[in-house]
Amino acid sequence: MKGIVFTEFLDYVADCFGRDMVDDLLDDCDFSHCGAYTAVATYDHRELVQLILSLSRQAGVPAPTILRDFGVHLSQTFARRFPFFFEERTTLFDFLDSVENTIHVEVLKLYPDAELPRFITNRRDDSVMSLDYHSSRCFSGLAAGLIEGAARYYDTAIELTQATVSQGNATHVRFDITLR
Ligand code: HEM
Repeated sequence: MKGIVFTEFLDYVADCFGRDMVDDLLDDCDFSHCGAYTAVATYDHRELVQLILSLSRQAGVPAPTILRDFGVHLSQTFARRFPFFFEERTTLFDFLDSVENTIHVEVLKLYPDAELPRFITNRRDDSVMSLDYHSSRCFSGLAAGLIEGAARYYDTAIELTQATVSQGNATHVRFDITLR
């Protein structure tokens, strides 16, 4: 997983839980690089899982809540760092439609070793979209937060539900996004 995700995660922790919590997490996890993440380098995505579980233990917040909140934070960061991806689309559904075939394709040009999920979007009608998330890394909670953050960007009220499609793990999750 690209370092930008880790540097943003530590920023999120500092903002929401304080600087000391960042130090406590890095002490607890004891990685060989001592938490000195660089945005363009690549790290094992399981380190993010470790950091989230450690934060969950130390802050007493459920891990799924942390992953989702972090997704919202990351969406805001992406909107700041890559504004053109957002500005080129006028609606939430147009934006979500473009993640698989445009945005993540551009991300891959920027970071050729990025490990990206696969999305299939399907507009059921004008107010309902289903979005199928496929990834061996099982970060659907992050996807949920990114969808919520994008909805906020487009000032669109949504109802978001999700169901696991794959058996025994969360490699395939279906989201239903309904405009309210
Ligand atoms: C401008 C918008 C976006 C940008 C620039 C972007 C970029 C990225 C980058 C750099 C990564 C890390 C890849 C790696 O670590 O190797 C990533 C991963 C990911 N992206 Fe996006 N993304 C965007 C929008 C979205 C949206 C809207 C969603 C949800 C629908 C999404 C879902 C994910 C998920 C869940 C991952 C984690 C990897 C995985 O689950 O396998 N992204 N994205």
